[in-house]
Formats: sequence, C-alpha cells, structure tokens
Amino acid sequence: MLILLQTCYRSELADIVTMRRVRERDVVCLLLLTLLILYLLMWFWFGSLQPASSVFLNYEVDKMLGQERQGKVKESRSNLDVVTVAGLGQRRLCPLGSFRLSKMETCMPWLGCKEITNEVTIKLNIGSGTVKKVYKAVWRNHTVAYSRLKNTTYFEDFSEGIEMLKTLQHPSVLQFVGSCNTTLLTEFYKFGSANFFIKKVLKLYSYRKFDNVRTRFNMALSYLEAIHSLHNSPVGTRVMCDSNSVHKSLTQFLVTQDFKLVLSDLDATPEVNHEANLFIKCGSRRIVSDFVAPEQLWPFENETFDDSRMPSYDEKTDIWKIPGVVDYLLGKVNGSEVIRLHLFKVHQQCHNRDPRQRPTTKVLLEEYNRVKNMFFPEHIT
Ligand SMILES: Nc1ncnc2c1ncn2[C@@H]1O[C@H](COP(=O)(O)OP(=O)(O)O)[C@@H](O)[C@H]1O
Ligand SMILES: [Mg+2]
Repeated sequence: MLILLQTCYRSELADIVTMRRVRERDVVCLLLLTLLILYLLMWFWFGSLQPASSVFLNYEVDKMLGQERQGKVKESRSNLDVVTVAGLGQRRLCPLGSFRLSKMETCMPWLGCKEITNEVTIKLNIGSGTVKKVYKAVWRNHTVAYSRLKNTTYFEDFSEGIEMLKTLQHPSVLQFVGSCNTTLLTEFYKFGSANFFIKKVLKLYSYRKFDNVRTRFNMALSYLEAIHSLHNSPVGTRVMCDSNSVHKSLTQFLVTQDFKLVLSDLDATPEVNHEANLFIKCGSRRIVSDFVAPEQLWPFENETFDDSRMPSYDEKTDIWKIPGVVDYLLGKVNGSEVIRLHLFKVHQQCHNRDPRQRPTTKVLLEEYNRVKNMFFPEHIT
C-alpha cells in the first residue's frame, strides 16, 4: 500500500510539472490514503489496546461492567456520606507510637491506663469473639472501639494480639489507639466485620446499590493485600490461624468507609521461618473442616488424635484458603462470574496439595492487579 502511495505521490509531481490534472488518479490516491489510515488505526487498537485474553469474553465483560461503571458515577454523586471513590481509602499513617482518628488534625501518642480510665465512656456492645468482648465507646468526642478480655485463660492470646497490632500498624491493619492491662482501644469501624458487612450492610436499602462486582472485587483485593502484609511483616512471616471457615476468617477483618478489608484480630498469628526451620500448628486440637488446607488435617484417619504426632506446616495454609474467601466475597452479582473465570488458574494453583507449589501472595497480587487493570482501569487504590 505504501509503495502504491509513493507511486501516487511521484505521478502527482509529474502531473504538476506537466500541469495535467488526472481526476481518477486523485480519487485512487485518496482512497489508498484512507485505507492506510484505517489500517494503522486498527493495528493500534487491536495490537496495543486489546488485553491478552479472548476478545469475545472481554466484550461481554465490558458490556456488563460498563453498566456498573455508569451506575457508579451516579452512586458516588447521590450518596456523599459514603466514600466510594477509590484512592481516598489509603490511610496516612502516624509515626510509630501515635494515632490519628478521622476528625483529628494531628497525631497523638497512644493512650495508656490513665487516659483510658479517665477519658473513655463505654456505650453499647458491638461484637464478641472467643477472646474479646467489644464495645462502641467515646474518647474526647471521638468514637472508638473498646475491647475487653473475656476470660483470663486467653490473656496470653490477648496480649500477643496487642503486641502484633502495635508492630504491624499499616493501612491494611486496624489502627491501634491505646491499651491498659486487659483493655484495648482501637479505631471504630461502623460497618463492622467483613462477614457482617456482606451479610447485613450490603443488603440494607441504602447500601444495596453498592452490592456490585466493583465493591466486591475491591474487598477481595484488600483482603489479599492484608494477607500479603501479614506474610511480609516486620516481625517475619505470620500466619492467620483463626480461620477454620470462611465465616471465621472474615470476622477477623473489619470494613473501612471505602469498603476495604483491614486485619483486626491478630491474636493468633504465629511466626514461620523457613531458614530457621520454624513451622507452626494452628492450635493443639484436631481441626475438622473442609475449608482448611489438607496439611492442617490429622493425617492418620483411623487413629486417635495426638498433637505430638501432628505435623507442622507453614503460611501456605493461608494461600489454600484465599480462593474460598474470595469466592464468597465476589458472591453472585453481575460480573462476578467473569472475575472468577479470570482468577481461575491462579486459584487452582492455590489448591495444589503440595504447599510449595502454591503461589505466594506476591504472585497472587500480580494476578489480581492484572484483573483490576483489565476491568477497573480507572480504579486507583
Ligand atoms: N474496631 C472495631 N470496630 C467495629 N467492630 C469491631 C471492632 N473490633 C472488633 N469488632 C467487632 O467485634 C468482633 C470480635 O472482635 P475480635 O477482635 O475478632 O474478638 P476475638 O479476639 O474474641 O475473636 C469482630 O468480629 C467485630 O464484629
Ligand atoms: Mg476474632
């Protein structure tokens, strides 16, 4: 085509020299030029913009998610009390040893016994687990969460949780405000645990419009980011032990204003160190569950459980659980099947019976971000 155009150009020069106007040739040249531009445009469009996967599938998804996107613009305009715009959620961290709640202008040192005893008013009970009873409370006009140790049997777990919370302060982790013996003060999350948010909040009339694939994928991604920060913490590779079911796993996470998951309960997060041959067991009792990794199950089926014979394992138990949790988070909304399909391969690898063959959170994050860029390119987290 280029050669033909070149010929065109040369012959036109010749025409000018001879002052002869050949109309047919002009038309042919113009047509060739248009074809060349069209060809270049198509090459640019399909060659550089099209994602690697099937064109048909992407068209289907684009159609579906396009509708979601249009809906989204309306939502964020009509409901200003809920921050849904991505990018606003990233909490700015205070220097270690201090905190800042939403209405505070500056960071303040963590609170101790004196402030907690004199300045905190306990309001209503908002939750409870095996170790803690949690209350909504007020400190100097700021709403906070006040957790109290339920039973002294769990004092060690409770103290370990506080130490971990202090050490792991990160946007993916609940903000620590203060502590005193058997009480813990943290930032208050009005949406509660991830489990509660999915089951109750998203079903409320005023939040139903946020029950879409964007919100749910955002939750899944932030869940993965939190597990990643746990596996790469300043105090080594930590494992999320209190997670024998999807429900249990999600009660350890709270939901932020912009629908992201943050790790909240760090009471059972033991350390794994491959170099030092340090492996873990989640508790000393037999685990019976079809959700946990196979290496967490008692391997000698016909024999009585004996913890001293139970083999230890590593952080790859968390990786095994990721597809189950993400599957639940994605739910059954418009577009979630397509996201599931795009995560299928990497999720399949998470379920390799050999823990060493399972991907790391880093590999998973790469895959999740690939999916994010494909379907939510304007979504900056
Ligand atoms: N900061 C908080 N804001 C709002 N709800 C909270 C907060 N902390 C805990 N909760 C609620 O309390 C429940 C129990 O807290 P958790 O720390 O998991 O206790 P346990 O250690 O006993 O399992 C959570 O699942 C959640 O519903
Ligand atoms: Mg808990």
